[in-house]
Amino acid sequence: MPMKALSAANIALIKYWGNRNDALRLPVADSLSITLDQPTVEIAGESADVFSVRSYEPDGSERKLTDKEIDRLQRHFEISKQCLDLSEGISLEIRSQIPPSIGFASSAAIFSSLAELYSGLSHRPVFPQQKSIIARLGSGSAARSVFGGFMALRAGNGDTLDSSFVEQIADSDHWRLWDIIIVPSHKEKKTGSTEGHARAHTSPLFEARIRSIPKRMEECIDAILKKDFEKLQAVSEEDCMNMHAAMQSQDPPLHYLSQETYRLIDEVKELRMREHLEVLFTMDAGPTVHLICTEAAFPEIRAFAKAQTNCTVFEAGIGSGSHLL
Ligand code: DP6
Repeated sequence: MPMKALSAANIALIKYWGNRNDALRLPVADSLSITLDQPTVEIAGESADVFSVRSYEPDGSERKLTDKEIDRLQRHFEISKQCLDLSEGISLEIRSQIPPSIGFASSAAIFSSLAELYSGLSHRPVFPQQKSIIARLGSGSAARSVFGGFMALRAGNGDTLDSSFVEQIADSDHWRLWDIIIVPSHKEKKTGSTEGHARAHTSPLFEARIRSIPKRMEECIDAILKKDFEKLQAVSEEDCMNMHAAMQSQDPPLHYLSQETYRLIDEVKELRMREHLEVLFTMDAGPTVHLICTEAAFPEIRAFAKAQTNCTVFEAGIGSGSHLL
């Protein structure tokens, strides 16, 4: 019988962009996100002689993985084998509800789910912090999806595997927020985050961004602990736009936001001013707009999202992190 693990994406409020060690995905700076409860990725796996992987669409049809995707998954399994007591090979089946490569953290959900699965299959006990390191080795932001609620990924210092680590700021019951996700386009991006991180230092804005993160982290944590939405909105939106400005000025430039993204941002700003709504916008590496709002603002933000033509809408609450099924 294969073992199964489930995980979901997370949405960053203070963004992770740039590594001090690309191979080990050791970030230059701290980041902070909310772990979502859906859409999810379920991965079934069992020990085998060789590595193999198949992937399925939400409707059950097979999704052909590219050689690059298979290679990334296989390299992650090989490195996980060095840390955990796993069999020579593995047979994996991935079922993802998350559209890939549009800035919806599908890789965070996949690699946190794999970390959960490999930890479950390991013949040695695995500590939670180790599990998040296994996730991070596949995708940096995946480290934060291993746990629920509001999660920080601390950059730490040094070049050892465990020099960067996660910290839970508050659990999933702390503050009932929603994430309404508007996907304006399913077109997969040309440059993925991994290539982008590797060139982050070429932006003239990068160093100033890194210097500004400790203060923003402090403000964001304070806003979460005090449930101060206005403060959370100000710091998150500032960090989001600062990351995109850095991305757009790196070499080669990365323009992840589309005209549709900017239109949605403008309309949300207008709507929240008019109706006094507690809602903030944020985007990861893609045009997808995340509208994080309080329970009180939820009905109006949902109606706004549903009224968008040619967009797919997802709704998520705060999740409790990856787990075995
Ligand atoms: C913009 O974790 O996707 O979403 O390690 O190459 O998979 P890889 O990078 P990834 O980087 C995420 C960057 C971001 C911001 C964030 O989630 O913090």
